[in-house]
Amino acid sequence: MNIGIDQISFYTSQYFLDLRTLAEARGVDPDKYVIGIGQSKMGIPPPDEDVVTMAASAAFQLKEQGALDGVEALLFATESGIDQSKAAGMFVHGLLGLPERCRVVELKQACYSATAALRMAMGLVAMRPQSKVLVIAADIARYELGSPGESTQGCGAVAFTISADPRLIVIDPESGFYADDVMDFWRPNYLSEAQVDGKYSTLVYIKALKAAWTQYAEESGRSLDDFARFCYHIPFTRMAAKAHQKLARGISDEELENVIGESLIYSREAGNCYTASLYVGIVSLLDHCAEDLSGKRIGLYSYGSGCVGEFFSGVVQPGYHDVLLTNEHQKLLNERMELTFQQYEDIYHYGIPTDGGEHVFPQYRTGPFRFAGIERHKRIYEEA
Ligand code: COA
Repeated sequence: MNIGIDQISFYTSQYFLDLRTLAEARGVDPDKYVIGIGQSKMGIPPPDEDVVTMAASAAFQLKEQGALDGVEALLFATESGIDQSKAAGMFVHGLLGLPERCRVVELKQACYSATAALRMAMGLVAMRPQSKVLVIAADIARYELGSPGESTQGCGAVAFTISADPRLIVIDPESGFYADDVMDFWRPNYLSEAQVDGKYSTLVYIKALKAAWTQYAEESGRSLDDFARFCYHIPFTRMAAKAHQKLARGISDEELENVIGESLIYSREAGNCYTASLYVGIVSLLDHCAEDLSGKRIGLYSYGSGCVGEFFSGVVQPGYHDVLLTNEHQKLLNERMELTFQQYEDIYHYGIPTDGGEHVFPQYRTGPFRFAGIERHKRIYEEA
């Protein structure tokens, strides 16, 4: 049975900071961010946007297409959890009006957990081929102001449905995966900013990639030539480029751009979306690739610090163009509002109240849903 991604949508916040603005404020050469890191802008969520509203906004686009009919599970991948107990997906279930006959759970393993969700979803669909699973990955990448990680912040969500006979990508059964207990990136429960050993994290990313690829290649018998394109986990776009250069030693700049270039366009605009990053890359590739990818195989690498890496693959399905939401994605990015540096820092410092009192948040521009406030430690969401 063929199982895979039936439809996919992407959402990021309505506000961004240009990295040249950040560079100027921090006294850094803008080329470091734009060329050295490979990022242009970073998505900044206003106080009334969080992983729930971004996730619901991404999935709402699928709902409008009728793609959520038959959904029996919602798997929510995030490392920006809003509650230690209640899954963020429960709020999304309510906002989207999903059926009561639905399993809902939240998954965590840094940026890897959306791929774990995809695997679990495939298992559920294999057991009940008439059913669908909604997977949502949503995150806010946040580092200390002035730290090396600051320029790699961002936010966004990707929602996709897993079904039998999918219209977009059939996921291959072969896979290479790798785990190692390391401290390259983590966020203790009492901190709102990630802690990161940045250089070390890039080395572990590559180490896990090599191990996962070796295993995948042995299991599948495929070589790099069997792939039309590659999508990587993208903490910043230069990382994906470096990763592919490690696998395809000696690759020319032109060929590198050809096999990964289209997958990096949205990430350069939205910044790191953690769990969603690989999937932002897939959306970006499908939305931008001028070549017809029908019947072509794409290589996929998911990495989550701490760490788990997985290399897997999928075959793009004929007719895939008909189910893409390219116009919606480009409209969203084109209509975003640019923040000044002062506005960026003000939003950064706007903390979520923890006193259990009644708080109403100012209304900013969001998607169809907003995080309206907090009452007695309960998050209140509403239609925008
Ligand atoms: N023009 C062009 N390129 C420049 C430049 C300039 N003026 N100044 C610096 N660069 C290049 C550097 O040569 C380097 O490229 P290289 O890696 O190919 O050598 C790149 O820009 C980054 O500079 P560097 O000094 O290494 O950056 P940094 O130490 O300040 O921060 C990270 C880099 C990745 C460590 C930091 O962004 C980080 O901690 N990010 C969060 C963690 C992360 O995303 N990890 C990824 C794995 S999940």
